[in-house]
Amino acid sequence: MGQLDGQVALVTGAARGVGRAYALRLAREGAAVGVIDLNLHGYQNPGFDEEMDADTVVEELRNLGVAAAGVEADLTDPDAVDRAVRQLAGELGDFSILVANAGGGGWGAPRPEVAEQAASNLDPEGLQRRVAGNLYATAYTVRAVAPAMKRHRYGKIVTVGSISGLLPRPDGSHADYGSAKAAIVFYTKSLAQELGPFNINVNCIALGLTTTPRISKKYADEPDTVTNIALRRLTTPEECAAVVAFLVSDEASILTGSVLEAHGGTRVPRWGPPPEPWWETDTDDALDATTGEISHASR
Ligand SMILES: NC(=O)c1ccc[n+]([C@@H]2O[C@H](COP(=O)([O-])OP(=O)(O)OC[C@H]3O[C@@H](n4cnc5c(N)ncnc54)[C@H](O)[C@@H]3O)[C@@H](O)[C@H]2O)c1
Repeated sequence: MGQLDGQVALVTGAARGVGRAYALRLAREGAAVGVIDLNLHGYQNPGFDEEMDADTVVEELRNLGVAAAGVEADLTDPDAVDRAVRQLAGELGDFSILVANAGGGGWGAPRPEVAEQAASNLDPEGLQRRVAGNLYATAYTVRAVAPAMKRHRYGKIVTVGSISGLLPRPDGSHADYGSAKAAIVFYTKSLAQELGPFNINVNCIALGLTTTPRISKKYADEPDTVTNIALRRLTTPEECAAVVAFLVSDEASILTGSVLEAHGGTRVPRWGPPPEPWWETDTDDALDATTGEISHASR
């Protein structure tokens, strides 16, 4: 008997990565699991190459002995989200658990040559994509599942934040993603206030660098990465899944509006040596090292 027997969970973005670990963990706890993802075979995309025990996570879930179903849909399209949730709830029953995991960054390590990473000069299309892919996708999914949770006077919602939405990088880069994840924290707290009277708990898990195959590969040759992490190692997807399993359990019944930081004590959401100060690389502006005054070149 699992602690989630009889429950029905929706995990977005579970075709691969950390979302897949959430889905598998909730299934091991006994929950039926629905998955919405852009591409259920996305684990095969170049750079991801995730080892699977079946053709998709949906079959992996069924192999664990639970009911499972998957739909391919773009969560930035509210109508598509409504349709997908209706279809999955029709197959599995109303959702009592939501893990709104789909989302992500886009930029990797800071690259000074990419001017559009600077907070003062964000690429409009990238900004739109980041906010839509993280904040809108989360809010649209909640919009689709909350009515049934309210009707049943029961629900557990976990949103997914990031250390990047809690602490700015020292060079200010990646602010599109960080701002979207910071907005998810505020959204989580607002949602917790609204849904509390319906016996629905809403919490956020804020990840640091987590060892999906993509991240492991990317940082394998960068041992310095962990020097800014108290535990001196990256987080595993299974460790994040353990936090989510706790948050959706009745053990966490008093938690709502909380942000659980699951990142091993990450102090700075970046890696490697600190960036060169911008005045060393921007030849148009100059810093007077004695007075600390900055003279701006005309723009
Ligand atoms: N891995 C990390 O180091 C890390 C760190 C901090 C936060 N996070 C967060 O954890 C979550 C999962 O990250 P991951 O590393 O597993 O990413 P990933 O890219 O491996 O997986 C994300 C999944 O979400 C799906 N997805 C993305 N946008 C979608 C959309 N619009 N509609 C439907 N599906 C969509 C993708 O197809 C993919 O299967 C993200 O929200 C990410 O921001 C991850």
